[in-house]
Amino acid sequence: MILIVGNILKDVYLSLDSRTEPFETDKNGTKWLDFSFDTSSHHYFYRNSSFGGAAVSLEVFKNLGLEAEICASDFTFDETGPSRTLASEYRYILTSEDSVSYLVPTVPVNTAFTPPVSEPNYLYIDRSAHLSRATAENITAYLSSHPEVKLILYLKNVANFPHSNLIDLAELILSEDSSANLDYDRTVFISDRNLSYKNIVEPISIERIDKLTHLSAYSIAAATIIGKFLLGETVENSLKMARLNVENSNLDSTLTLHELDALQKSGGDESLELIAATLMASKKGILAADESGGSIKKKFEQLNIPDTFENRHDYRNIFFTTNNIENYLNGVILFDETARDSMDTGEGIPDFLISKCIMPGIKVDRGLENFPDSDETFTKGLEDLPKRLREYREMGLRFAKWRAAFNLDPLKSIPSDHAISENCRILAEYALDCQYAGLVPIVEPEVVYDGDYSIDENAAATGKILDRLVEELKNYGVNLSACIIKCNMVLAGKRYHTKSTPEEVGRATAEVLKSHVPKEIAGIVFLSGGQTPEQATENLAKIIKNGPFPWPLTFSFARALQDPALYAWSGNDNNLEKARQAFLDRLIANTKVL
Ligand code: 13P
Repeated sequence: MILIVGNILKDVYLSLDSRTEPFETDKNGTKWLDFSFDTSSHHYFYRNSSFGGAAVSLEVFKNLGLEAEICASDFTFDETGPSRTLASEYRYILTSEDSVSYLVPTVPVNTAFTPPVSEPNYLYIDRSAHLSRATAENITAYLSSHPEVKLILYLKNVANFPHSNLIDLAELILSEDSSANLDYDRTVFISDRNLSYKNIVEPISIERIDKLTHLSAYSIAAATIIGKFLLGETVENSLKMARLNVENSNLDSTLTLHELDALQKSGGDESLELIAATLMASKKGILAADESGGSIKKKFEQLNIPDTFENRHDYRNIFFTTNNIENYLNGVILFDETARDSMDTGEGIPDFLISKCIMPGIKVDRGLENFPDSDETFTKGLEDLPKRLREYREMGLRFAKWRAAFNLDPLKSIPSDHAISENCRILAEYALDCQYAGLVPIVEPEVVYDGDYSIDENAAATGKILDRLVEELKNYGVNLSACIIKCNMVLAGKRYHTKSTPEEVGRATAEVLKSHVPKEIAGIVFLSGGQTPEQATENLAKIIKNGPFPWPLTFSFARALQDPALYAWSGNDNNLEKARQAFLDRLIANTKVL
């Protein structure tokens, strides 16, 4: 058993809604908030806790299958989560629009240590621990009366760590301080650029160690090295695993032993399952900014905006330059033109999104074509798909989307069995091509909203299409755990005499999905399909209320996220801020209901 000495909770980020919070502005323009510490009475867009090193280490050890506990922390856990007993580094970070304030305890409290009841195999003093002299002496006394317990020590800064007897006792040291004179046989060095150990010629370079803001990446690296080392790996292999864990963890979870082993086997590339899970994680959504040239032209025409490259570039940029989109989005689906375009700073758009921890994806279908002598359509684009996917993968794109559209006309028995099976077969072939090329497929069979049909008729059609789709995905050998379904909500058609209520949409959609989508599917995302932005959000909320579901659910809207911004902008750059705010409002409203 590993006993961790350190702190659990570090920072709590609250992004407050300045429209509803009672801020007072002083004569210098500084905003003040009388903050009650009862967060439930405040309106915040998002709350994110940053865990201290002990909590992060505990998660990593447990994910590696090791037994571990935290002792001597500034917090204790009970059924409802951490409760505060002592404060040390703990602080609130309040953000509102452009202002940020910090609330910090005035008296820093050191980490406490209580000798454990049963003897651990290892005592790990992690980077979050603040030891007073008395506590360091307690630990030293405990170790000398329990010689079987081995010490592992994390040192941020050796000069600030006056407890040299603990340094002498440590079996393994992890240190950020490469200038200190430490025993190189026992020390692994961790920096924001690499992980190194004396006899490894090439230090393992590591990216992202300073990018994971809500989990300490240094703690992930250290705990993975320790954990893998204790599991019998060489130091070199432990360092490689640490790199994989830091570079592939997301803000919610570090990788399990199984995922790490799978990643290592695949040469360190992200696995498709991991990409899919990242896209569906953390109650965020996916923006579909992928209207084809034809669709954009139509939209622009309605507002008399000339359909030029500059205007299309400016329009897409509204969404990418909105502040804090990474708080609400895991991914953005791009159209080819945008995937090859750059931000005004010159940075390529996929790279820009990646730098914000948003995954870029790409629409790869080439639109709809009618079956011969028929009103029904199939989706084009399979011919050169493998070649295009290879190029997209090299451009940094990690997932793709393909839309099949089904008009629903019960009087004409549309969609026909032929249209359903042909489109589902094409979707499955596309999905398999994606997985071969290292991209996660989003398969989108859409029952088109614009029609005259009841909610029950929609439910029957959507269920039938999903059944056929799943059958074809399985026939083609598509890995369902690395495949996302993008689905219409189940509701009465736009031209039907009665509009479905959100309660009805929630119930019917949940029922159809639960009975027609296998649990292996990585996630389900919804299109908005021409509903008003508010209607799409209300319906999404009610669908979520009808959970729990065996897969994560989120939104992947185009119109319901972008239209308010497009109208606010209307091609006039003086309206850019208004447009960004309109987009942000939709992101906030939709993430709130997840
Ligand atoms: P809408 O949300 O506008 O339906 O678009 C979603 C989409 O990606 C269609 O392919």
